[in-house]
Amino acid sequence: LLDPKQVAARKAVKAVKDGMTIGIGTGSTAAFAIQAIGERIKSEGLHVRAVATSSRSREMAAEWGIPLIDLCEVEALDLTIDGADQVGPNLSLIKGGGGALLREKIVAQASRELIIICDETKRHTPFGQHPLPVAVVPFGHTLTRRRLERFCQKVLLRPKAPDSPEPYLTDDGLYIYDMHMEAIADPPQLEQRLKQIVGVVEVGLFNGLASRVLFGFHDGHVEELLPDHSAHL
Ligand code: 5RP
Repeated sequence: LLDPKQVAARKAVKAVKDGMTIGIGTGSTAAFAIQAIGERIKSEGLHVRAVATSSRSREMAAEWGIPLIDLCEVEALDLTIDGADQVGPNLSLIKGGGGALLREKIVAQASRELIIICDETKRHTPFGQHPLPVAVVPFGHTLTRRRLERFCQKVLLRPKAPDSPEPYLTDDGLYIYDMHMEAIADPPQLEQRLKQIVGVVEVGLFNGLASRVLFGFHDGHVEELLPDHSAHL
């Protein structure tokens, strides 16, 4: 049996062409993509330049011999490959389970194409069942939390480790609040409303950014979802 995350990652990495400037995501699925890109560099002499969405992915990419650049060095990226925590209607995504949502969204917005890779577990309904991560400025964060609580009761500050009293800190020095919404009826409206809260830097809702989502399966097949819901088997 194959790992569905690796199946999706390998399919996505086929879209990487010689000379491209690419964005690389964060998480266990994106890690398979980093590995596959590294292997293509070694075996085919593929030339790419990459921007990483987290310090973790940057380190891993360096280990795989992927040439890294700063996002400020380019105007745009050709293609980004990243994972997701949940995939919803019209390819709305919940991201930030790995805490990298801010950099992931900056990179996604800079990309001409965004391919999301995942296994089928990310497709469960209703959309919003996965907690929604929100990156918040530490200054006055408990007041920001109270504003988030107007949208749902359970809003939890992400700890550094499961039982740690210390909060998790993102690569940009932000806290993460996980909003247990249960269901999100209108993702673009929720994103807009949450972003109006001053202490909120970014919301882990990605609307209208994904070009396609690839779901990998144990038997090696991949199912592709496009923004208009049409599924290609
Ligand atoms: C990190 C993310 C990841 O893409 C998301 O958490 C999925 O991770 P994994 O591939 O390990 O399931 O958004 O911020």
